[in-house]
Amino acid sequence: MKNNLILATTISTLFAITTMNAQKKTYLDKTKPIEERIDLLMKQMTLDEKVGQMNQYNGFWEVTGPAPKGGDAETKYEHLRKGWVGSMLSVRGAKNVKAVQKIAVEETRLGIPLIIGFDVIHGYKTLSPIPLAEAASWDLEAIKKSAQVAADEASAAGINWTFGPMVDVARDARWGRVMEGSGEDPFLGSKIAVARINGFQGEKVEDLLNVNTIAACAKHFAAYGFAEAGKEYNTVDISNSTLYNVVLPPFKAANDAGVRTYMNSFNILNGVPATGSSFLQRDILKEKWKFNGFVVSDWASVREMVNHGFAKDAADATAKAVIAGSDMDMEAHYYVAELVNLVKSGKVKESLIDDAVHRILRVKFELGLFDDPYKYCNEAREKAVIGSKTNNNVVLDMAKKSIVLLKNENNLLPLKKSGQKIALIGALANDKNSPLGSWRIASDDNTAVSVLEGMQQYKDNQLTFEKGTDVTIGKTTFVDELVFNTTDKSGFEAAKNIAKGADVVVMVLGEHGFQTGEGRSRTDLNLPGNQQELLEEIYKINPNIVLVLNNGRPLSIPWASEKIPAIVEAWQLGTQTGNAVAQVLYGDYNPSGKLPMSFPRNVGQCPIYYNNYNTGRPVNSDKNVFWSHYTDVEKTPLFPFGFGLSYTTFDYKNLKLNKVTFVKGETIEVSVEVTNSGNYDGKEVVQLYLHDVAASLARPVKELKGFELVKLKKGETKTITLTLTDKELGFFDNDGNYLVESGTFKIMVGGSSDRGLESSFELK
Ligand code: NOJ
Repeated sequence: MKNNLILATTISTLFAITTMNAQKKTYLDKTKPIEERIDLLMKQMTLDEKVGQMNQYNGFWEVTGPAPKGGDAETKYEHLRKGWVGSMLSVRGAKNVKAVQKIAVEETRLGIPLIIGFDVIHGYKTLSPIPLAEAASWDLEAIKKSAQVAADEASAAGINWTFGPMVDVARDARWGRVMEGSGEDPFLGSKIAVARINGFQGEKVEDLLNVNTIAACAKHFAAYGFAEAGKEYNTVDISNSTLYNVVLPPFKAANDAGVRTYMNSFNILNGVPATGSSFLQRDILKEKWKFNGFVVSDWASVREMVNHGFAKDAADATAKAVIAGSDMDMEAHYYVAELVNLVKSGKVKESLIDDAVHRILRVKFELGLFDDPYKYCNEAREKAVIGSKTNNNVVLDMAKKSIVLLKNENNLLPLKKSGQKIALIGALANDKNSPLGSWRIASDDNTAVSVLEGMQQYKDNQLTFEKGTDVTIGKTTFVDELVFNTTDKSGFEAAKNIAKGADVVVMVLGEHGFQTGEGRSRTDLNLPGNQQELLEEIYKINPNIVLVLNNGRPLSIPWASEKIPAIVEAWQLGTQTGNAVAQVLYGDYNPSGKLPMSFPRNVGQCPIYYNNYNTGRPVNSDKNVFWSHYTDVEKTPLFPFGFGLSYTTFDYKNLKLNKVTFVKGETIEVSVEVTNSGNYDGKEVVQLYLHDVAASLARPVKELKGFELVKLKKGETKTITLTLTDKELGFFDNDGNYLVESGTFKIMVGGSSDRGLESSFELK
């Protein structure tokens, strides 16, 4: 803060201290309603203290972003003591959190507790699969439980606010952060957003008072998933139609589920940085949706508005961000430096500060932080909860459910449990670190169960292992660029040798856990390094290969999908990876996952997604080149959204509607008979797609509008009924109005977005 401000601050603080004794901390009275307590507290706050609530500092080490130049620990401690800090992120551990909380509560004038944020994205220490993998389960209950485990462990480590779920719809596999979301579909994405929020926060706001729940944060508001060409932090320039129909629905669902915070995003959206966008943060979020929690900026995104060319300096960026509705400044250090002055000079209205602070305090009260600021700082609980057997069981269950079987010719899978010679090949098979994924700040390195360890438990087979080739060279960390091994093939021979005599070769290939996530965009979606070459070499010797993919994004594997008889999509599955993969390979668990994102044939197809528009020339009716296609590759994906096999088979028949003509407001019932026609008990995700044939705005060729995960014993048939209401039939026009229009609708029901039984109905 500038010198004159320090003087003003000192005077106002002295004044406040002398009057403090006269005023009681009436806001601590638990019997009063929260809104009254906030008002009582705010009446006693100086402008500096209010601005302090809007300031969030990172902990005193560089973990999740570039360390701020002036932000050393000493300054941060000093600001904490002055009450100039409302929140900290990435401080963790009951003891550490207690230490900073103690300063805020016991050394500042009003004793306002900090809210402690952390990127609990797919678990705290006991890690679940990466979010994209969880989405492949389509199992909302399991996803909710996984978020509960994350909240349980994080809250035991002092944390009371997670920067999750990320609800960015993403269609471009080049973007590294697709691993953090739920894929390409807004309907599935919305359901998963709600499941995760309920898992983190509980079902209702009062649940936040429990010691094992934490506030959630829907991010990144908005459209970050549409970074041009999949390049990280890039420009976003999309239509209103895409914004309202694709980007915003999961954010809206998050608000309806009571999410307590939002994080804005790094990108510009149609020329305006999200952090400085009143349209997004005020008009849509706070006015239209009536969101009453608070918005935190992304890391230094207030400062980045200067780089965007939207603000000329720190003061300008601060004013624009606050006016636009960014309530808390994460690590830009701009609010704390500029905001008091901006209010005093009349450039920012104090009422805007009051509104932001009111929102922040509301969440702190809801969490019960004023009643017991140390409620999350119980070291005994921390010891008991983190890494518990129960939590490991939940993430193992989630991991198995996240696996997608992409191909299984000649029933190569499941493997026999005895008498087979199995050659396990691939450095990732013996990697205990990579399966932990990208967001795993609080987990210990090398703590995942590797695939090798998982398979070794099946002792009646003869298992041999060779890495074949390293995927990376040098260090693999969250902050450093990875270096891929394209030269050293010295392990090929040993791998070929074990492949020679094997009944089955299991190859674990794909991306390293740190190859996706923030800052990890790629322009090549093939198997990195030497892995494709290794795969082809082994195939020449023994084609009986099960390819187990590890990856945080859709990969393009056209050669493998043609030649390799069995392919298992195993993502990065977290702490229990090896156990989950082994149980699936050996048939102790029958896979039921379905892809939440289309897999391209090659990167040139990106962005590729199932809910595209038809175009004017969708098919080759004239048998010439003038239709919407590529000349060098089919236009369809390699594996479509919603696709995934099982060790059993499912047949669909008797698709029925309760009527053929409906009036708006009526409920449409769609029923179908699904039979497990194979040899194993199994689960199937029954998917309902809708197409509005002619509307005032063109509508996608199909859109997911319902699904159910169904358990069927072998030979069993069940009738599944899915319903459609106005909520599913309509769409948003270019001004954000929701329209339900009369006309013909086609429906398709099946086990994937590319095939199913079809029918239609009329809406009057
Ligand atoms: C930047 C990321 O974009 C955001 O998702 C994350 O929560 C913050 N850093 C804090 O680590």
